[in-house]
Amino acid sequence: MSNFYEERVLSVHHWTDTLFSFTTTRDTTFRFKNGQFTMIGIKVNEKPLLRAYSVVSTNYDENLEFFSIKVPDGPLTSRLQNLQVGDPIIIGKKATGTLVLDNLKDGKRLFLLGTGTGLAPFLSLIRDPETYERYEKVVLVHGCRQVAELAYGEQITQHLPNDEFLGEMIRDQLIYYPTVTREPFRNRGRITDLLTSGQLFEDIGQGPLDPASDRFMLCGSPQMLVDLKQIFESHGMEEGNHGEAGDYVIERAFVER
Ligand code: A2P
Repeated sequence: MSNFYEERVLSVHHWTDTLFSFTTTRDTTFRFKNGQFTMIGIKVNEKPLLRAYSVVSTNYDENLEFFSIKVPDGPLTSRLQNLQVGDPIIIGKKATGTLVLDNLKDGKRLFLLGTGTGLAPFLSLIRDPETYERYEKVVLVHGCRQVAELAYGEQITQHLPNDEFLGEMIRDQLIYYPTVTREPFRNRGRITDLLTSGQLFEDIGQGPLDPASDRFMLCGSPQMLVDLKQIFESHGMEEGNHGEAGDYVIERAFVER
């Protein structure tokens, strides 16, 4: 039995020269937890060429969605960026990953900290009702170099608050905080600096970091994860993973493509 589903591309959206999203059909037997990733790719000379991708869509959506960078000479993304509606795509049957609610202790606020395509798993989690049942406030922070890279901003601020089922929870509980480092914008600076200076908490009108009740999920570049981990460790917070829920959980954003 194959480890992969053979699906079809349903839509493609290019955000910038370096970022795009696409949706695909979903096999009815494909199961995953919101926040997880799976291997996806295409066949090149009959051989599967695959990379890990967080699932942007939720486990209750009919279709699948993914968010990708475009690496000009990347073996996979140099091809994937040319995807057209109707093209075949391979999806791994086994989803996995640490950014799932089960790996976090209960608390009051949940901070989802992502840079670049590290936003992807959080797009799924902010559409999971359990996220809002477990935490009073959910703060989604997306850090990018440029404003144009703040993909999904309109969906988060315009569409989700009007969602038929989740709208009320999202309006009351979700705070979206986009931040940009290399051009003017209303929020500026790296996520690490915004945390240590306390600027993030000030800007969203919330009290300072409380290690006893704040929980964090991180997804970004390896160095960003190292730097953030250091901040949480200095507050005595513990990393969670499968089997042991913690104060924060980490996933590397998958960018070698
Ligand atoms: P900066 O512009 O200061 O490097 P990238 O496109 O390189 O993946 O970066 C995405 C965003 O993550 C940028 O805003 C970048 O800021 C920021 N970033 C890069 N490295 C770190 C780090 N070690 N800690 C926090 N943010 C980082």
